[in-house]
Amino acid sequence: MQTELSQRVMSQRVRPFVLQAERMTKTINMTTKRFLLTALILLVAGWSSVYGEDGSQLWLRMEKAETAASVTGVKGTAMSELQTYWQGGPVVLKRQKGLAKDAYTIKSQGTKTVIAASNDAGLLYGAYHLLRLQQTGEASNQLDIKEAPYYDLRILNHWDNPNGTVERGFAGHSIFWREEGKVDSEQFAAAMQSYARANASVGINGTVLNNVNAKPEMLATASLQKTKEIADLLRPYGIRVYLSINFASPIKVGGLQTADPLNKEVIAWWKEKVNEIYRMIPDFGGFLVKANSEGEPGPQDFGRTHADGANMLAAALKPHNGIVMWRAFVYAPQSPDRANQAYLEFMPLDGQFADNVIIQIKNGPIDFQPREPYSPLFTAMQKTQMMVEFQLTQEYLGAANHLVYLAPMWQEFFSFVNPGSLRAMAGVANIGDDINWCGHHFAQANWYAFGRAAWNPSLTPKEIAEEWANMTFGYNEQCTMNNEQGTAVANSQFSVLSSQLVKLMLDSREACVNYMMPLGIHHIFAGTHHYGPEPWYAPKGVRADWTPPYYHKADAVGMGFDRTVNGSGNVKQYPEALYKLYNDINTCPENLLTWFHHVPWDHQMKSGRTFWDELCHKYDEGVHQARHFLTVWDSMQPYVDAQRFQEVQRKLRIQARDAEWWRDACLLYFQTFSKRPIPQDVEHPIHNLDEMMQFHIPITMYENPERGFTK
Ligand code: GCU
Repeated sequence: MQTELSQRVMSQRVRPFVLQAERMTKTINMTTKRFLLTALILLVAGWSSVYGEDGSQLWLRMEKAETAASVTGVKGTAMSELQTYWQGGPVVLKRQKGLAKDAYTIKSQGTKTVIAASNDAGLLYGAYHLLRLQQTGEASNQLDIKEAPYYDLRILNHWDNPNGTVERGFAGHSIFWREEGKVDSEQFAAAMQSYARANASVGINGTVLNNVNAKPEMLATASLQKTKEIADLLRPYGIRVYLSINFASPIKVGGLQTADPLNKEVIAWWKEKVNEIYRMIPDFGGFLVKANSEGEPGPQDFGRTHADGANMLAAALKPHNGIVMWRAFVYAPQSPDRANQAYLEFMPLDGQFADNVIIQIKNGPIDFQPREPYSPLFTAMQKTQMMVEFQLTQEYLGAANHLVYLAPMWQEFFSFVNPGSLRAMAGVANIGDDINWCGHHFAQANWYAFGRAAWNPSLTPKEIAEEWANMTFGYNEQCTMNNEQGTAVANSQFSVLSSQLVKLMLDSREACVNYMMPLGIHHIFAGTHHYGPEPWYAPKGVRADWTPPYYHKADAVGMGFDRTVNGSGNVKQYPEALYKLYNDINTCPENLLTWFHHVPWDHQMKSGRTFWDELCHKYDEGVHQARHFLTVWDSMQPYVDAQRFQEVQRKLRIQARDAEWWRDACLLYFQTFSKRPIPQDVEHPIHNLDEMMQFHIPITMYENPERGFTK
């Protein structure tokens, strides 16, 4: 872990030398320049393995200005960032009352550019906006921009454990926590600074530093000291820190007999603990709580409600302006339909939560599946503050191996849930100490998109992908250095190609749905991990709702979970118009068909095919899409630096292989129920079912076992 962090820091340190050398060559004619560049490449050959375009810069591939730009006005991070990277005319940073918190304006005044905001964070966001324009070639002297964030709270949730592992993390170890004695403080500060810059550049202003399955020791004073160090490093970038807490902390850390939220000693313990935190971190954000969920302790253990628990914590935080984000991710082994549970537990409490409590709800009612309908709580609860939790780490979408751009999924969510009905947006981070931060170069796009969407949920996935692709893969001279042909490629040529790349990103989520779980299928993952298919997994003794047959219910008649009024009644949790639409198999959107219905194999689909034939077509379409991504990427070779080209190509090959594996496992298994042939106009499976059922993918095939997967 130390090595990866050092390499990332090193990579960032070496880059300025290379750029400086490149700039020196700018004035010389092309032939000489090429010669010098080649010589330079040979010279830095020893460094090239740590340098390259290794993704460590994320989308912030900015070149340092040759001489510090003229930046006057308010001092702070905005000023230093512009002085380092802005290559244009003078910039004035000024405070302006009347602008909302974090909002900013950017205006050209003659040769000057004036950035105004009412707070430091606003100035910083304005500075990054200007730098983004510079990077995408859109900076001009006719700027007139006004921006304000849609959500006040734009928060990453890290599922990081104090021992340095990351739950469902696929990009290495935690960037925050590691074993004692192994940290170089200078490197740690540099890593925190890079992390904070990346967040601030897309408007993220909060971070929960630890796993929702929270270890009680996070609240011990020694651990809080570390939290304070991190908070101090992130603060200059407008980022507040939050902690996930374990509800039983009064017992486990405080030595009390109980954690009953109505007990006076417990209340006093939390109050004092919160006061201690604020003495160390005056701008501490608050707590994230997973309670009475998947075995975590909670108020129900003491006969109390979620509201009792959340409000007790909220009272302790209130004097400091702290908040409680209380998760609604609950389900019970005895429940006949897991999708019903959150509504059943939380609806009776609507209106009972304190005003600094926000209920944090996953986008769908089950668990971050490739496609789910939205969680019905979002439209049902009327008197409670809510926030959505998206998952950027692709726990159920091919981890860090598959290219899946998630913004289209979030857009789909917002087409059902009015963004204005929510207080905030949270994203479960996909960040670790891997050199490229996210394990897959394209997974960086999901981090980027999360920040941009939380800032402005009406930005389209296409707009965000274009920005990101342009910044991340856009032409700069560095590309030509690492490019095998050494071909200089003009911006305009790249943009033609980048449109293909953007299209690939936009198609990627639907492709993943197609090859994993089309037509409303959900949770048919292998029992011991959430990467590959095991629709057959149902060993004796494992609780039913942790096995795929609970969800797909395949039998001789058909497959799918009957959630209609004749089934689990889940449809009734939706507003009337949707409930009617979903309840009728003939009006239910086909992409959710087996989510809401037990669909007969011969059911007529809109295409004219039977349901079984359609299922075969969808899986096959997914496989072809995944293969096509590889073809598109291969055509990018002349335009992308060698390192990132090869790394992405390798992952796309894995994705295409996995897509076949998903198709074969699912079609051959479901065929044992449908007893129908696979249509002639689709490619037929190339594996045998019995072999696939024997085969348990070794964890190393998709993930280093030491990385994540704490369960
Ligand atoms: C999923 C995930 C767990 C996680 C849980 C949660 O079930 O697999 O690792 O703890 O969600 O969101 O709390």
